Amino acid sequence: MGEHIVLIGFMGAGKSTVGRWLSRKLSRQLLDTDAMIEARAGMTISEIFAARGEEAFRAAETEVLAGLAQRRQPVIVSTGGGMPMRAENREALRKLGSVVYLRVKPETVCERLAGDTTRPLLAGDDRQRKVETLLAQRGPIYEEAAHLTVDADARGPEAIAEEILHELHIV
Ligand code: S3P
Repeated sequence: MGEHIVLIGFMGAGKSTVGRWLSRKLSRQLLDTDAMIEARAGMTISEIFAARGEEAFRAAETEVLAGLAQRRQPVIVSTGGGMPMRAENREALRKLGSVVYLRVKPETVCERLAGDTTRPLLAGDDRQRKVETLLAQRGPIYEEAAHLTVDADARGPEAIAEEILHELHIV
């Protein structure tokens, strides 16, 4: 297993925010797979979905993961919420290092993403139902992909980052 720390979980779980805390605490670089895909494409995620379709975005995710496997220095990786849905990605994620699932309830996602327009999968009406349906489908897959599951509803990002470091025996 590699030495990276890889954060997975649903949209709004706090992967980027917790990732920033881990990055600060360990003085390691934070890499965000969504940001890497946007930078390469020169488009936002919404634009990629609209212009090229979801499948093209999923292919870009798999490509970005392959690139991360080449990194020598240990980093923190924050992933897009759909990254672990492909079986090949789950395998690649687990090879990169410790995979940590930030688990949140649908209510938390809806609260945190109220007014957000950057997630194409949650666009349109009845967001609550979309979140509940997707989360019910994905929950078991996140659990299967992860080495460690951490509840990320009630506490702030610093406390969650500390728990992760403690559980992974890093500090
Ligand atoms: C997605 C989550 C998003 C982004 C894209 C698709 C998903 O990332 O990759 O909109 O399928 O759950 P965040 O989890 O950072 O919001």
